[in-house]
Amino acid sequence: MQAPDCQMVIMGASGDLTKRLLLPAICNLGASDLLPKTFSLIGVARTDYSNKAFDEYLEKNLNEFVKDSEAKKFGKVLFKNAHFVQGDLNDPKTYKKLKSELDPKRNHLFYMAVPPQFFLPIIQQLGKAGLVKEDEHSGPFRRVVIEKPFGSDLDSAKKLNRDISEILREDQIFRIDHYLGKETVQNLLAFRFANGIFEPIWNRNFVDHIQITVAESLGVEKRGNYYETAGALKDMVPNHICQLLSYIAMEPPFSLNADAVRDEKSKLLRSVQCLRPEDVLRYTVRGQYEGYRGSPDVSPNSNVETFVAMRIMIDNWRWAGVPFYIRTGKKLPVRNTEIAIQFKTPPSMMFTGTKATNLSPNLLLVHVQPEEGISLRFGAKVPGPVVKLGDVNMTFKYKDYFGSRPGTGYETLLYDCMMGDSTLFQRADMVESGWRVVQPVLDVWRALKPRQFPNYESGSWGPGETNQLLESEGRKWRNIPS
Ligand code: BG6
Repeated sequence: MQAPDCQMVIMGASGDLTKRLLLPAICNLGASDLLPKTFSLIGVARTDYSNKAFDEYLEKNLNEFVKDSEAKKFGKVLFKNAHFVQGDLNDPKTYKKLKSELDPKRNHLFYMAVPPQFFLPIIQQLGKAGLVKEDEHSGPFRRVVIEKPFGSDLDSAKKLNRDISEILREDQIFRIDHYLGKETVQNLLAFRFANGIFEPIWNRNFVDHIQITVAESLGVEKRGNYYETAGALKDMVPNHICQLLSYIAMEPPFSLNADAVRDEKSKLLRSVQCLRPEDVLRYTVRGQYEGYRGSPDVSPNSNVETFVAMRIMIDNWRWAGVPFYIRTGKKLPVRNTEIAIQFKTPPSMMFTGTKATNLSPNLLLVHVQPEEGISLRFGAKVPGPVVKLGDVNMTFKYKDYFGSRPGTGYETLLYDCMMGDSTLFQRADMVESGWRVVQPVLDVWRALKPRQFPNYESGSWGPGETNQLLESEGRKWRNIPS
């Protein structure tokens, strides 16, 4: 089904996000016939482009970042008719110019592809210029998409929510977490609730623990400026990792309606145990890779962490006592995001006296990226006269069953905004719940500077204490092949 007619306005149209992700996603949507013929694009930025120069800029990026030929064809036509508004994003005159480009009878989607300090000022200017006023019951929509990071801690996220709510209703706000655009993340809901066999064992009676790994092999590259204000914890945990956590651990929603799903996710995040300061010391590990301090725009004495591991406990009936171990970092051996659900080891007495001494627990692996799929490890008898057991894996790869489609992960998210479906977007309370999970860690880390940074080599799995986090509880990180 095609999205309704829409004028899309990209604030920060000359930036990286626009050219690498938004434009290709729009072209892919167009090529799949999911955009209306009337869809049009307006870019706003400080860069001094004429309409023609902007079209040329779009065309250049089309050639570089859009791979599919149908998508390219769509982009060529769309970009020829794109308009550009040059101006300072804090200057009311920019919004006057923008207003003259907008047809009040059409739907408008404003995308904040700008650094976070601009989110509120832009929304305030849009409000003052009367560009986001919407009749709740009829008339064209006015929606605003906000990128991450949403706030820089719990208090600032609350304040941002409050300030924005003076201008926009909650259903006009689409807070993006690009992890929710990933097929495998969306599939978690289908996997858990469209199959009858998993739900009965998805709890503390059967699950020993869960490991969530979001590993990146790249370093901070040219993002030192931003990363120095963030660090691995803020950059990845309250948002992407909390999203993975909530999908894997939430209760079944009563329907797929946006608020039904988001209520359950929110409830789950609210039941994450709040770490006491002594728990922070015991159950979190932070690291910085060797060489980070020499990256562009990074202080030579930086104490910003590029790696974090922590144990999260969930205080609810389903998960009481089941640890969720998370780890994420830059310059790790491999780019890999996965969720490993390790089940309890079965009693092994019947194999006593055989060669089958080490029974491995069943392991369900959800591979989020780079390869999307799911696999289940179970024990089987190795053929032969002697009783020996071996681990085997039953593996499902997305691309084998469904093929692979060109995509940036932003296609679904943009389409859903236009359709007005906010299931995959963060509601105000969810953003705050994510921050609540990490706030005690931020407080302790702010007060106690790391003793020894850098503390892990590029290409390793983080500092040594990461292993102790699990070993002290008789467990081990999954060995992820590189
Ligand atoms: C972003 C972070 O939100 O997610 C980056 O700011 C990180 O630091 C990126 O590299 C990871 O996204 P993905 O899709 O490559 O796993």
